[in-house]
Amino acid sequence: MRTLIVGNWKMNGLRKDLAEIEAIAAGALAFPGVDVGLCVPATLIAEASNRVPNLTIGAQDCHSAASGAHTGSLSVPMIAEAGARMVIVGHSERRADNHETSADVKAKATAALAGGLNTIICVGESEADRDAGNAITVVNAQLRGSLPLSSDNLVPVIAYEPVWAIGTGRTASVADVREMHSAVRQTLVELLGDQGAKVRILYGGSVKASNAAELLAVENVNGALVGGASLKAADFLPIVAAAQAKVD
Ligand code: PGA
Repeated sequence: MRTLIVGNWKMNGLRKDLAEIEAIAAGALAFPGVDVGLCVPATLIAEASNRVPNLTIGAQDCHSAASGAHTGSLSVPMIAEAGARMVIVGHSERRADNHETSADVKAKATAALAGGLNTIICVGESEADRDAGNAITVVNAQLRGSLPLSSDNLVPVIAYEPVWAIGTGRTASVADVREMHSAVRQTLVELLGDQGAKVRILYGGSVKASNAAELLAVENVNGALVGGASLKAADFLPIVAAAQAKVD
């Protein structure tokens, strides 16, 4: 299974930052054993995908409908036409800020997969959930609620991102990551059969150059979803290099 490293720029990035995207794309060429994606603000998708055809450019959300009366939203055909080949759905910031439920996330993921996009479905527990000993139960429930169960060979990507580790500088321990990724794998196989073994499970939450190798070495960690450390090529490329080192 090829390792997938995805940057999530969140609400960061103006045209002046296209140079950074070009630097990431150019640098990624040195790591052919790794799949690399960058989910940029929607306003940059078209220009970024024109400038860096070798890099998979993605969006950070999509609507579940193809068109209609949904002011401010963007559909899968719209982001795909702009050049997105990937999309993140159900990020914890959207679940919190926009009150997205797992049912909403499942509808978005269904539309994104049907539209041919590489679809990253995010799950992750809050600090209160973890402290109460409910992390695995909560993540399993999110996964079951958010994962489309279709028979047509459409395989999404799952990103496990503990909410308390996002943007905080704290990462889950190797033992906790191993336990959670193994639980996610078990549920995926239960729900999707053989295909569940092929789903890439990314870890996200304060991934950076200094911890990437250790996290990527954990069983069932098939890549990373990287926020803050994806904004600069100098921070992001060493994470891709750590993934390449796994292959070499
Ligand atoms: P972070 O964000 O790497 O800045 O913690 C990860 C994410 O939210 O995808």
